[in-house]
Amino acid sequence: MNKNFAMALGASILTGSFLLVSQATATEDYDAKAFGPESPIVWDTPTKVTFTHSTHTEDLGLECSECHDDIFAMQRGVAERTGKLTMASLAEGQFCGACHDGDTAFASDTNCSACHVAPAAEITWDDPTLVVFGHNMHVEDLGLECSECHDSIFTMKSGAATDSGTFTMAAFAEGKYCGACHDGDAAFSANSDCGTCHTLPNDPEPMLWSKPVKAVVFYHNTHVEEYGLDCESCHDGTFAMKKGAAEHADDFTMEALYAGKYCGKCHDGDTAFASNTLCNSCHIGVKGYNRMTGETSHADGHGDEHSGH
Ligand code: HEC
Ligand code: HEC
Ligand code: HEC
Ligand code: HEC
Ligand code: HEC
Ligand code: HEC
Ligand code: HEC
Ligand code: HEC
Ligand code: HEC
Repeated sequence: MNKNFAMALGASILTGSFLLVSQATATEDYDAKAFGPESPIVWDTPTKVTFTHSTHTEDLGLECSECHDDIFAMQRGVAERTGKLTMASLAEGQFCGACHDGDTAFASDTNCSACHVAPAAEITWDDPTLVVFGHNMHVEDLGLECSECHDSIFTMKSGAATDSGTFTMAAFAEGKYCGACHDGDAAFSANSDCGTCHTLPNDPEPMLWSKPVKAVVFYHNTHVEEYGLDCESCHDGTFAMKKGAAEHADDFTMEALYAGKYCGKCHDGDTAFASNTLCNSCHIGVKGYNRMTGETSHADGHGDEHSGH
């Protein structure tokens, strides 16, 4: 490895002479010749890592030659261009790992947050549902260590969980991903409190069903915000948190509603107006449907988006 760097370095100014100056008494100006560049070296691919010369030289008293040029070239970007600047190579004692081995300095597989910065922006998923995850809350407010999630539960790269294809509530119930803690023990269960993680669909438009004749409208916002219903009052199996499930069920009919299923769970004349009254509150009719969708004549039950059953 060292040879790579020495070669990559090409023409470089060297270390020894800088040390002569390092005796200078502390003055107002940072002495870059004595302590290395003032501006931190920052990597941001794939993760963000910051290296500060002054902590290593000025504070810890390391000589330039302890890193240059055997471990690092005296030029930004060289280590990264080798394509080998990874946690795996650190663990093998290369780059930062030459010292960060748990012996000379804290090991690279501990203390992640000393080198890495958690993203300030929230991580959001919007497929199939909208979920927001805040590092701040988990790290700063709750005091969790990076290593409690990285890399055992999540890789330090957003998108990986989704790409796995197994980032689902079912997996959480088995203790994976968020479910590793959100099990009702370490943190509130993923089986409850849906609304703490999930937000209502972004789409301000109401849900609309048009099978087979009479378009039915449903407003999430009024049910949640005005009537104060929590997500679990419907997403307890009465409705999936995914549009389309009810529509494709054979029994999404008035008869089922009258029997207390689906909307009829509440629209029973007790919790909310009964399903056999106020037909027009739910059924907005073909005209209403067309107005809402901008379509012309689709709501007559022959729309081919409805697979028959
Ligand atoms: C603990 C290791 C370490 C020590 C000690 C160290 N450096 Fe560095 N230095 C680095 C790293 C890491 C880089 C970036 C290399 C890369 O990106 O491949 C770097 C890069 C540089 C650069 C290039 C900056 C640029 O913008 O291209 C200069 C100049 C430099 N060091 C000077 C010094 C001097 C002078 C000293 C001694 C006073 C010193 N370094 C001590 C790790 C160190
Ligand atoms: C001594 C500094 C240091 C410590 C401590 C450290 N890392 Fe890194 N890490 C790096 C550097 C340097 C890179 C490569 C540059 C980059 O990704 O920007 C890196 C890269 C990564 C990557 C990108 C992919 C890979 O495998 O290289 C992940 C993920 C990662 N670190 C996770 C962790 C976790 C988790 C911990 C704690 C258990 C940790 N790191 C501790 C310095 C450190
Ligand atoms: C030549 C040895 C050496 C190398 C190489 C080295 N470090 Fe360090 N580093 C140290 C020592 C020694 C300490 C202080 C001892 C400790 O904290 O365990 C330290 C401390 C640190 C700290 C804590 C400083 C603070 O202000 O909290 C960070 C962060 C850090 N190193 C990052 C890095 C990164 C990132 C790299 C690679 C780019 C790296 N170091 C390479 C020796 C080294
Ligand atoms: C409670 C769990 C948890 C903790 C603790 C945690 N993270 Fe994360 N982190 C995540 C999740 C979830 C993702 C997204 C992973 C995915 O999409 O596959 C992520 C992604 C990241 C990413 C990638 C962001 C991007 O845009 O690609 C970085 C960087 C990161 N974490 C750094 C940290 C650091 C540094 C710490 C500690 C200070 C930390 N994380 C602590 C859960 C956690
Ligand atoms: C700890 C946070 C959390 C809680 C609590 C939670 N979920 Fe999730 N849920 C997620 C994450 C993360 C995903 C995956 C990403 C996505 O779908 O955008 C997800 C995905 C889903 C999906 C998509 C398909 C599937 O099965 O994964 C449904 C449906 C769902 N959640 C329903 C619920 C319901 C109903 C509740 C309450 C009983 C609930 N969730 C509670 C975080 C949570
Ligand atoms: C390492 C454990 C751990 C993991 C993994 C984890 N969490 Fe948490 N989370 C906690 C703890 C602990 C709390 C606070 C305790 C509580 O509220 O029950 C919390 C609280 C929360 C909160 C509540 C915020 C508030 O304002 O009350 C949300 C939302 C949340 N987590 C979402 C997620 C999502 C989404 C995931 C997966 C992407 C996840 N968490 C993964 C430990 C974890
Ligand atoms: C009064 C009942 C009710 C309540 C309360 C409710 N929902 Fe829903 N939700 C539904 C119905 C009905 C559907 C559509 C299901 C279907 O098509 O099979 C749905 C679907 C969804 C979808 C999927 C949207 C899409 O476009 O695929 C999400 C996300 C969702 N709900 C989130 C929530 C959240 C978060 C809460 C709590 C804040 C909540 N819901 C409260 C009835 C409700
Ligand atoms: C968890 C209970 C619950 C479920 C399930 C439920 N509703 Fe409601 N709904 C209410 C309550 C409570 C009100 C307000 C009281 C009232 O108007 O009687 C309401 C009011 C309404 C209204 C009138 C005002 C508005 O918000 O537009 C319509 C229309 C409506 N619901 C349609 C539906 C449809 C369609 C479904 C099934 C897809 C459904 N509701 C499922 C509880 C529920
Ligand atoms: C609380 C909301 C609500 C009320 C009130 C309501 N319906 Fe419905 N209706 C629905 C839903 C939801 C469906 C199923 C939607 C679908 O299949 O696309 C439906 C389906 C229907 C259908 C077609 C399927 C079937 O069951 O035969 C007819 C016809 C119908 N309603 C007539 C009525 C009449 C007449 C009234 C008044 C006496 C009424 N509805 C009151 C919500 C309601």
